[in-house]
Amino acid sequence: MSDRFSSGDIELLVFGVLLSLIALFVVIGLIRELTPQARMQWMLSVALGGGVMAFGLKLLFVVLFSFYSMPMLQWLPVTQQSVHTERPGLEKVERLARDDAEQVSNWQSLPYRVPTPADNPQTPEKIRLGEMLFHDNNLSSDRTVSCASCHGLNLRLGGGDGQRNAIGVDGQRGARNAPTVYNAAFQQVLFWDGRAASLEEQALGPLLNPIEMGMPDLESVVRRVSEQRRYPPLFRKAFPESDEIEAADIAKAIAAFERTLITPDSAYDRFVSGDKTALTPQQQRGMALFESSGCQHCHSGPNFSAASVFSQTSAYRAFPSIRHPEYEKKYQLVADKGLNQKAEKHARGLWRVPSLRNVSLTAPYFHNGSVETLEEAVRIMATVQLDKVLSDQGEDDSQVYWRSDQRQFYINRNRAISDDEVDAIVAFLKALEGRLPEGSFLATH
Ligand code: HEC
Ligand code: HEC
Repeated sequence: MSDRFSSGDIELLVFGVLLSLIALFVVIGLIRELTPQARMQWMLSVALGGGVMAFGLKLLFVVLFSFYSMPMLQWLPVTQQSVHTERPGLEKVERLARDDAEQVSNWQSLPYRVPTPADNPQTPEKIRLGEMLFHDNNLSSDRTVSCASCHGLNLRLGGGDGQRNAIGVDGQRGARNAPTVYNAAFQQVLFWDGRAASLEEQALGPLLNPIEMGMPDLESVVRRVSEQRRYPPLFRKAFPESDEIEAADIAKAIAAFERTLITPDSAYDRFVSGDKTALTPQQQRGMALFESSGCQHCHSGPNFSAASVFSQTSAYRAFPSIRHPEYEKKYQLVADKGLNQKAEKHARGLWRVPSLRNVSLTAPYFHNGSVETLEEAVRIMATVQLDKVLSDQGEDDSQVYWRSDQRQFYINRNRAISDDEVDAIVAFLKALEGRLPEGSFLATH
C-alpha cells in the first residue's frame, strides 16, 4: 500500500470525503425546509440534471479518446498502477515499456545487485574479511591451498583454475572440474549437482573436504583463523554480535565476498539494453540460433541457467538426455551421475544447469572437465540435449518417423546444425564475458 499511496493522496481523499459529507448535510437541510410537492419537483430535477451531466461527461471522454487515443492508451496502464493523477513524463512511459519488454522477452540483462539473505547483509568490513579468508592458505591442512587456488579470481581466466580437475592438498585430484565462483551468487543451488543451497552452506564444505583443503573439523578451522593476530579485530568489526570467532561467521564473510563477484555489463547485456552495435552480425545469428535450437529451455534467464534465482523451473536436467554411445565413451559422460548417484550403471546423470556467463573463459568443460573446446561442448549439447545432427546437408534437416501406436507420421524439422552455426553460437557465448561492476568492491581495490 504505502508505496502506492503517498500521504498527499490520503489527505486529498479525506478532504474529498469531508466535502461530500458537508454537501450532503446541506442538501438534506434544504430539502427538509420544502413542502412535499416542491420537494418532489426538486429531487426530480436534481436526478434529471445529474443524468444529463453524466452523459455529457461520457461524451467528452469519447471525444478525448478518439482524438488522443495513442498517448492516452499508453498512459492508461500507468494510471492503473498508481493513484497519481499527473501525467508521467515520456521518459517514465518509455521505462515502463522497457520493463514490460524485460518481462515478456526471453532475453534479460544481469542485474548489478545480488540478492542477499536477511541474516547476512553486505557490509564493507565483512566483504574485506571474506576476501582475506578466501585467499588464506592457512585454512588448509598443509597450509598450501586456499579457495583461490582452485577459484582464481583473475577474470581473464574466468575465475576457474583452467584445470581439468581441481588439485587440492597433497596434490590430490578430485573427479570434478572447479566451476567459476563468478555469478555463483545468482544461483539457487550450488555445485555441479546442485547439492548445496546457499553460499553460506557451501563455504565450509571445501575446508573439510579431504581432497580439497583437508581440515579435520570446524574447530581446527576456527583455531587456524584465531591464531592469526590480524583476524580477531576484523571479526569484531564485521560481526559485532558475536563474542568470539565462529565457524558460521567465517562462512558468512566468505559468502558476502562471493556476492561481490558478479559480471554484468557484457556485450550481450549492452545489446539487450539497446546498444545495437554491441554484438557482431555473427553473434546476433548465434543468439538467434541459441533461442531457436532450444538452448534456452535449460540455459534460461539473465544468468543463462534454469538453476538461477530468476528461474521458476527445476534447477536440474538429465545429461546426457539422449543416449550417444560415442560421446559417452570418449568423454566418460556417464561415469559420474551427479544427483543420480545411486542409479544403475548405464542410467543418465542428473545435473544442475550451469550458467553460461564467461563460459568462453572457463575451459575445460562439463562436470568432469573432459571437453577441451567450447565448439565441442556446443556440439555435444546440441546432439545429446536437443537431438540435433551435425550436418550441413539439407536432407538431414528434417527427419520423418512413424509412430505405430498412434498410426501417425511425425516430422522433426530444423534438425541439422552446421559447423557455421556452431561457430555462430560460440561467437555469441563469447559475448557473455562480463566485467566487474563499476565501483564494485574488487574493481576499486
Ligand atoms: C581443491 C580445489 C578447491 C578448493 C581449494 C576449493 N574449491 Fe570450491 N569447488 C571446487 C570444485 C571441484 C567444485 C565443484 C564440486 C562439485 O560440483 O561437486 C567447487 C565448487 C564451488 C562452488 C560452487 C560453484 C557453483 O557454481 O556451483 C563455490 C561457490 C565454491 N566452490 C567456493 C569455494 C570456497 C569459498 C572455497 C574455500 C573455502 C573453495 N571453493 C575451495 C574446487 C575447490
Ligand atoms: C535439456 C537441458 C539443456 C539444454 C537444452 C542445453 N543444455 Fe547446456 N547444459 C545442460 C546441463 C545439465 C549441463 C551440465 C552438464 C554437466 O557437465 O554435467 C550443460 C552444460 C553446458 C555447457 C558446459 C558448461 C561448463 O561450464 O562446462 C555449455 C557450453 C552448454 N551447456 C551450452 C549449451 C548450448 C549452446 C545449448 C544449445 C545448443 C545447450 N547447452 C542446451 C543442460 C542443457
